[in-house]
Amino acid sequence: MAVLTGDPAFEQSVRQTFGASGAIELRIVPGSVASMDGFDTEGVTVVIIDLDASRNEEMAALERMMLRVGAWPPVLVVTQDFDAEVARSLLQMRVADFLVKPVQPVELVRTCARVARSSAAETKEAQIYTFTPAVGGAGVTTLAIQTALLLINSGQRVRLTVCLVDLDFQHGACADYLDIEPRLDLKEIEPRPERLDRQLLEIMLSHHASGLEVIAAPNRPAEMRTFDPDMVTRLLDLVSSHFDYVVIDMPRTWFSWTDSVLLGTNRLFIVSEMTVPSIRQAKGLVAAIRERLGDGPRPQVIVNRFEQRMFDPGLKKADIEQALGADFAGTVPNNYRLVREAIDRGIPLDEVKPGNNITTQLRRLMLPQSAAKPAAPAVSGLVKKLSLSLAK
Ligand SMILES: Nc1ncnc2c1ncn2[C@@H]1O[C@H](COP(=O)(O)OP(=O)(O)OP(=O)(O)O)[C@@H](O)[C@H]1O
Ligand SMILES: [Mg+2]
Repeated sequence: MAVLTGDPAFEQSVRQTFGASGAIELRIVPGSVASMDGFDTEGVTVVIIDLDASRNEEMAALERMMLRVGAWPPVLVVTQDFDAEVARSLLQMRVADFLVKPVQPVELVRTCARVARSSAAETKEAQIYTFTPAVGGAGVTTLAIQTALLLINSGQRVRLTVCLVDLDFQHGACADYLDIEPRLDLKEIEPRPERLDRQLLEIMLSHHASGLEVIAAPNRPAEMRTFDPDMVTRLLDLVSSHFDYVVIDMPRTWFSWTDSVLLGTNRLFIVSEMTVPSIRQAKGLVAAIRERLGDGPRPQVIVNRFEQRMFDPGLKKADIEQALGADFAGTVPNNYRLVREAIDRGIPLDEVKPGNNITTQLRRLMLPQSAAKPAAPAVSGLVKKLSLSLAK
């Protein structure tokens, strides 16, 4: 717990209330929110701010802090007096709760426990889908983009939030394929990854007309360099706490951060071409990932640009099934004209041709089974909350 206060009496009461408990790590920071702009909330479960609401600069500093903190950790504000105007501002800033001095210890403990519990329940964790190549040019970027676009509309009633993250820093093509400006500035984040918060993230997101949010950096084709693994994991942690789904486009090279990205993945796809060498590479990659990640996500191979001709002497689906066994997820048909038009115009395949064969097959492979079924009438969260509170 972190407590920011300039009031010795309040400080003492907090120490008495929480200090004795070995289970709670108490960090008291003397000062005010205005004097402590940039107050670090890393690793904190509840923040208590002793606020002098009569001072405008304190209200403004609190507002900045709330923007930075986002949904976690919850911030509990303690004020000197009750003021309806202040209460309203605090509500708008999404402060978890507020108490007016003098605060009874029991009340403080209860409130802290409650805000911690409800904020934890509200903080979401994204489902992460990662696409990684067996060989160059297999279609990782194409399949990652189209999957991300499908996921947006896979919810029962609401549009889901989806973020596509292009981790192919050297040859990334996501922004190009979607015809948007890449805005991830690695140079700005790298020296101080801890600065990466929700506000900075918002600046670095590129928005696509479909509603898809994209994290992509301008390409540096002439630079072969790696980044601090901490920066990459921090970026992904942050993204995954703000979206329903995160879809990752991985590079072919194995970097120092690759293991941790793959470990954090819920569904891992290896994209292969329909050639013997590519299937062989995919098989080798499955084995390598298994060895490195153990019980981590199970890699599944997608064979892209699939074509089956009757008397073609080449690979057949049965050959692929035999070679890959249970690691084979399925095929995606070859449809170059469709893909090319979608890429050239920066739009979803479904917009080029509704009901096309690639989207249909991807939907089958990617979407949770429930999304394929007709939606059951769902009570929206707000209505549920309201009816619960009315029932009390
Ligand atoms: N199912 C498909 N049918 C036809 N063409 C496809 C299909 N999937 C991808 N392509 C085409 O294959 C080429 C490579 O695709 P893409 O850029 O998605 O691959 P990649 O694996 O991301 O490549 P890189 O290794 O360069 O990152 C593109 O020209 C794309 O249009
Ligand atoms: Mg690519």
